[in-house]
Amino acid sequence: MRPTNMLHKKKILIIGGSSGIGLGIASVCADYGADTIIAGRCKQKLSNATAFLDNRITGVQIDANNDNCIDAVYQQIGCFDHLVISAGEAMVKSLQETTEEDARGDMERNFWLKYKLSTRALPYLSKEGSILFISGIFSVKPNANLFMSSVSVGAVEALCKSLAISAAPIRVNAIAPYVVDNSDSLTKDISDDRKNYLQSIASKIPAGNVGKTRDVGLAAVMLMKNQYASGTILNLDGAYSLT
Ligand SMILES: NC(=O)c1ccc[n+]([C@@H]2O[C@H](COP(=O)([O-])OP(=O)(O)OC[C@H]3O[C@@H](n4cnc5c(N)ncnc54)[C@H](OP(=O)(O)O)[C@@H]3O)[C@@H](O)[C@H]2O)c1
Repeated sequence: MRPTNMLHKKKILIIGGSSGIGLGIASVCADYGADTIIAGRCKQKLSNATAFLDNRITGVQIDANNDNCIDAVYQQIGCFDHLVISAGEAMVKSLQETTEEDARGDMERNFWLKYKLSTRALPYLSKEGSILFISGIFSVKPNANLFMSSVSVGAVEALCKSLAISAAPIRVNAIAPYVVDNSDSLTKDISDDRKNYLQSIASKIPAGNVGKTRDVGLAAVMLMKNQYASGTILNLDGAYSLT
């Protein structure tokens, strides 16, 4: 029997889909024939991203820091099948450099933003659908230079597991990547410094390479399709966390 394409014509909203990991996920969803909608703050980035994928996806503007804007976008989109939350930003600061204000700001950008986007989406999500968070491997293996972001990704993963129980039957999962080359889209130039950084990281990872945004996309699609995947935190790190 031929396998059915379980994402064909499914409505998938990717918040933080106009660049990097979110755009990689959008690209794989579009390949599966999903009705793929990307969301982000910058209109120009959204139109660059939709053009990059030959207009096989659509873009909608959202500022995830603004509660009214979140509700308005969900109302505009109506019922949908899968929500991916990739918006976020790691804060490169050690414990010694982190003020209490920095710590609150990181939790605001990386935890509260995801809390609000996920819980406010529940009335619009299909009962057969799912929520997918992009967290980070630093929850498992904290990085001293990402002190607070190592905390906030852990909080997101706890939210993922708690929602998998409390929002059931909606399935809730997370992908925890190590370093992903987020430059493989039209929206970013890659500097020599960044290239050297990625090469030096790759040489230290057992798998011998950093992630590509489509690697995360393939993992995301697996978690959306797999009806038994809920409360799963998928480490996507080339075995870095085992070193
Ligand atoms: N790249 C990595 O190596 C890596 C590794 C582990 C974890 N992560 C995590 O994965 C996530 C995505 O990373 P990335 O590298 O793909 O980042 P990115 O290329 O900077 O993409 C971030 C996306 O989120 C959107 N965004 C940011 N803040 C937003 C807001 N307040 N409201 C709406 N949209 C917002 C951005 O668009 P606008 O700016 O237009 O809003 C953009 O589409 C982050 O949470 C990051 O911490 C990344």
